[in-house]
Amino acid sequence: MKMSLSKAREIIKKYQGKEGVLITILQGIQDVYGYLPKDTLKIVAQERSIPPATLFGIVTFYSQFKLSPCGEHIIKVCHGTACHVTGAERITEAIVGMLNVKEGETTSDGKFTLEKVACLGCCSLAPCIMIDDKVYGKLTADKAKRVIRRISPDTGKG
Ligand code: FES
Repeated sequence: MKMSLSKAREIIKKYQGKEGVLITILQGIQDVYGYLPKDTLKIVAQERSIPPATLFGIVTFYSQFKLSPCGEHIIKVCHGTACHVTGAERITEAIVGMLNVKEGETTSDGKFTLEKVACLGCCSLAPCIMIDDKVYGKLTADKAKRVIRRISPDTGKG
């Protein structure tokens, strides 16, 4: 089924003739679609007279913007200082290996999106990750994998 672009057009139209609203437009589109579909970016580039490469540069500069749909569960691995020194990198590697996904990407089955974030605000539990709305702290690589397996028992098998 082809995605309807009418909502994106509506948002762009709302800001027609206004300056300094590009980020607001992009946020509005992302709120509707959950990410920034390629076709909506084409319209933004056209309507706002922005070269597509420039627009792409802006979109990729801001980590809040997503270029692909999110998975069912969002895993945020904290890379703040406390988590960094207590093993965020090891946890990331374990998750990357288990899910076969890179940071910023979604697994091919659409179950998980892996994100890298700054301090989650619970440094005393470092290293920690957040899956959806829940924080898991004092993790090791193995514990992180167990948490994910509890959410999705078939993940990382075979
Ligand atoms: S640095 Fe990870 S929660 Fe603060």
